[in-house]
Amino acid sequence: MVKLHSSMFIGVQGDGIISFGSGQPDLPPPPEVYSCLPTYHDFKYGLVQGSEKLRNALALEYKGFTKDHFVITNGASEALDLVLRTVGKPGDKILLHVPYYYAYKPLVELNHMEPVLVRTGEGKIDYDDFEMKVHGVKAVIINSPSNPTGRVQEIPTLKKIEKITDDLNIPLISDEVYKDLIYERENYMLHGRKVITVNSFSKTFAMCGFRVGYLFSTDKDIVEKVITLKTHSSMNTNILGQEMAYHATKTPKSFIESHVKIWKERRDLIYSEMVKMGLDVWKPEGAFYVLPKIDDSEQFVWDMFKKHKVITYPGEWFGAPGHVRFSYALDSEKIKEGLERVEEYLKGR
Ligand SMILES: Cc1ncc(COP(=O)(O)O)c(C=O)c1O
Repeated sequence: MVKLHSSMFIGVQGDGIISFGSGQPDLPPPPEVYSCLPTYHDFKYGLVQGSEKLRNALALEYKGFTKDHFVITNGASEALDLVLRTVGKPGDKILLHVPYYYAYKPLVELNHMEPVLVRTGEGKIDYDDFEMKVHGVKAVIINSPSNPTGRVQEIPTLKKIEKITDDLNIPLISDEVYKDLIYERENYMLHGRKVITVNSFSKTFAMCGFRVGYLFSTDKDIVEKVITLKTHSSMNTNILGQEMAYHATKTPKSFIESHVKIWKERRDLIYSEMVKMGLDVWKPEGAFYVLPKIDDSEQFVWDMFKKHKVITYPGEWFGAPGHVRFSYALDSEKIKEGLERVEEYLKGR
């Protein structure tokens, strides 16, 4: 079997392939985002910190803060990289909860830092383990709702994490890219002096390819340092993407609600089908992923791709060997068909 890598699967389609691979919404962005296109004419460099009107629009959601607390980035991905390089230096330890979003560990390591991994039980952070390991780390990354588990962290745990990082003066990076895609309760946004929020237009507004995200910090010193780094790396985020993102912020709430309804129906479908198949699986509470236990996960992923034209991602990429990640960013018919192929394969194993 060849070594599996995500570039083998991203963008692969057609020829009867059913992809539970990539984490990108198949639903359309709000029509409002295109409204600026016919008259759009700007092409010069933009502010490195990001368009003022977009930052002003975002600030409306963060009471007591202004556009000066935001930096618009090339997706949440760039925000994560800039924040890590701002708060840490080579040799520093960064705390992650496992299973983690698959870019975190490489991002930490490429910046010559060291990941410290905290245990979870059924996708929920084991706070005792967290408390033991948080001493001495340079920063903490929390991702709730989570990619790849779809699990949402409990509010009491999140509050304890806010408190201990504040007491220890440790930056708390909160990756909230799925904050709006949550099915069991309202999202609890981590907040406080040490919190750096990372967010994106990729998931809520189904705008992955436009590459617009942002970070928010109450600490202007962090914002300034991020801007300095960005000035000497990517400079401004794509200005047309920012204009479209601005229009997305004006989208009625009903747009997001209509998407959440679809995501929840798909969640219910894929979860109940997996339970029927006898798979050991935690119920996703947000985002659009599910991570059942499947033995010999890399072999499963390879066979499903090569023999049954179904794309899935091995848990190994997320620090969770013996599991397989399914993204349910595809319509119900394809979900059913894909799962039938999985069931067939597992029966014959
Ligand atoms: C948890 C998490 N963080 C960050 C990202 C990156 O998002 P963006 O497209 O905004 O760079 C993703 C994308 O899948 C994600 O799942």
